[in-house]
Amino acid sequence: MMEWTDRHCRFFHRLLTRRALIYTEMITTGAVLHGDRARLMAFAPAEHPVALQLGGCDPQALARCARIAEDFGYDEVNLNVGCPSERVQEGRFGACLMAEPALVGDCVAAMRAAAKLPVTVKCRIGIDDQDPEEALEALTCAVDAAGVAALIVHARKAWLEGLSPRENRDVPPLDYARVYRLKTAHPGLCIVLNGGIADLDQATAHLTRVDGVMMGRAAYQEPWRLLAVDPALFGEGAPFPSPKVAAEALIPYIERELARGTRLNAITRHVLGLFRGVPGARAFRRHLATEAVRGGATAATFRAALALVADADTPAAHTAAA
Ligand SMILES: Cc1cc2nc3c(=O)[nH]c(=O)nc-3n(C[C@H](O)[C@H](O)[C@H](O)COP(=O)(O)O)c2cc1C
Repeated sequence: MMEWTDRHCRFFHRLLTRRALIYTEMITTGAVLHGDRARLMAFAPAEHPVALQLGGCDPQALARCARIAEDFGYDEVNLNVGCPSERVQEGRFGACLMAEPALVGDCVAAMRAAAKLPVTVKCRIGIDDQDPEEALEALTCAVDAAGVAALIVHARKAWLEGLSPRENRDVPPLDYARVYRLKTAHPGLCIVLNGGIADLDQATAHLTRVDGVMMGRAAYQEPWRLLAVDPALFGEGAPFPSPKVAAEALIPYIERELARGTRLNAITRHVLGLFRGVPGARAFRRHLATEAVRGGATAATFRAALALVADADTPAAHTAAA
């Protein structure tokens, strides 16, 4: 997610779940090929498994980027067919590719030919006045024929004119039934459902109908939920007994990053939602909001914020321990 799932966020989320697949922000093919590649694409080995999401529509450019992703050590490369922003539309990629299923198929085929990585696509159920039955089916057939490893479907349309990207994440109604029907029609294809999944109970319910779930805003804004992912969805123990212990495990990373010149707030801004419902959570957030943004903020600032949080487990930690 743009501006959210940067490498600091991903490192933090990986502390909370060993098993969930984590995605980068969308990076355009132009940025990969002509930008500061090392800075844009770098990730810590601890982030695995991690997927790189690409934005683009030129099969050859995407193929080159897929090979670069493989060289960097990513575990998957994903093509964005869901972003409705004007900038992306001007580049003729993102959600507007829902209208060009054959081109998306060519993109997937070119990426697969260039790299051994699994190639996946993230799409919508349709755009504008498309019929989601036809549009999603056409896209699915095209990418399936090209050998896509999984199709992640944000279960609502995108309106390319009249709605902002933010509104396009809330206003068009969710249609989970359309995604369930897609799975029934393509039983051999890995279908992942995205959109509006608020908690792991909802995720578990969807998993009886589809092969996977992707959580966006709930995972970012309430990261404590991630601590229950390994126990609830993978039958494994939680990496840490409580959000607070997980946050303490972030301190060595903070120290390393500050030594490299990273500002404390660039890391701690991702941690603000970790203690929902725990006494001291608001004081933790307030302390970081005022202190972590200061130029000389150090790991001691983060420790001081943590000291304001009670040791009590959150409900998520109880679930994780169950
Ligand atoms: C701040 C923000 C940035 C996003 N950036 C991307 C992106 O780069 N690529 C993408 O495929 N989706 C992006 N999305 C959309 C989410 O991946 C997801 O499809 C959408 O929020 C619906 O899922 P949710 O209800 O679980 O959040 C972004 C969403 C938000 C809130």
